Amino acid sequence: MIENFSKQYLTDRHNSDSVKWDLSSKTLPYDDLLPMGIADMDFRLSDEVLKPLRTEFTSGAYGYRYLKEDYYDVLIDWYKRHRDVTIEKEDVFFADGAIHALYTLFYSYFKPGAKIISFEPGYPRFKTAVESCGLELISHDLRFQNYYFYIDFDKLEEDLSTQNIEAIILCSPHNPTGRIWRKDELARLLKLCQMYQTYLICDEVHMDVIIDENKAVSALKVAKELDLEDIVVTIHSVGKTFNISGIKHAHIITTNPNIKKALSEYQASHYYTIKSYAALPTYYVYKYGDEWLKAMRHAVSHNYHVIDAALSDRFAYPPLEATYLMFFNLKDYCGDEDAYEYLLRTAHIQGNPGINYGRLGKSWVRLNIATGEENIYDFISRMKNLSKIETL
Ligand SMILES: Cc1ncc(COP(=O)(O)O)c(C=O)c1O
Repeated sequence: MIENFSKQYLTDRHNSDSVKWDLSSKTLPYDDLLPMGIADMDFRLSDEVLKPLRTEFTSGAYGYRYLKEDYYDVLIDWYKRHRDVTIEKEDVFFADGAIHALYTLFYSYFKPGAKIISFEPGYPRFKTAVESCGLELISHDLRFQNYYFYIDFDKLEEDLSTQNIEAIILCSPHNPTGRIWRKDELARLLKLCQMYQTYLICDEVHMDVIIDENKAVSALKVAKELDLEDIVVTIHSVGKTFNISGIKHAHIITTNPNIKKALSEYQASHYYTIKSYAALPTYYVYKYGDEWLKAMRHAVSHNYHVIDAALSDRFAYPPLEATYLMFFNLKDYCGDEDAYEYLLRTAHIQGNPGINYGRLGKSWVRLNIATGEENIYDFISRMKNLSKIETL
């Protein structure tokens, strides 16, 4: 077990053209800004991964290269170890990041105007992707109860039975609420998809960042057990897991022959080629990243519990089951002001505005806790200085 992960791998990202650390400080007038937005981490890769990567990149010659010969083997092995699912090489397609994967899927397979359900609150680029690709977004509110978000299956079935919905996008685990979808929920979704001939597109980029002993189940695994795997399209990337999102490398995984045909034809006609250099970090983390991953999860869980112990009696947020993104409700503090603006103005903490994730959002802010302990304690003390709005 890696000792003291946070000390060993925390890296100062100032002056690295980091969107989180550098861009905000250029645009916001606060010398003591604490940036907690953007879904990336302040941790660097392990030396086991960096060593071969350095060797690959120090040659100075970056001519045409092909994918590592055992690339698919290590990907398949990763899926087996971390998802308990067997995938096949011919079911894997490449894309330049998870959202590019979504665009690729939409443009290649779905006809203009196709109706796609996305849950709200939800990751905003799903909406942008649906709309940019000429499809129609059907927004579906998650049911909110005691700071937990649920799929309203009755309402979902109503939509599926009355509208010609072609796909549902599910963020699993869910950004921004940190929720893990249970196996029975995934099975229920899949059965509804089967009944109404709809696809389930599962963005699983947060599936490896699991808090404590929670367990996330891949929809593909559940689908295989139900013999419904052709319904599922998985968007998979380890960008979030290993802090390599800036490299933009992702996979689309599907067994569906029609979707595979459409993807192949689309990628061929758009001269899409695999970026074999961009695949290298993913390749090496699949091979050598497990121990680091375990320690990173432990560090993020630790941060969560430190925050929870200090702030749970003052602030409201859903319990974090996965991801390093907490979704705070600041209504009692910000009143009618936008929570993001309020937190920035009063505590100089920059999160992501809740409003970006949907209509529920104005009093909410998403905060990234994948950082060192010092920032976590700084965050806690700034939050403790906030005052609730007096009610008469
Ligand atoms: C659910 C989800 N999907 C996709 C992305 C973006 O991934 P990429 O940068 O690989 O397109 C994010 C980033 O926060 C995300 O949370």
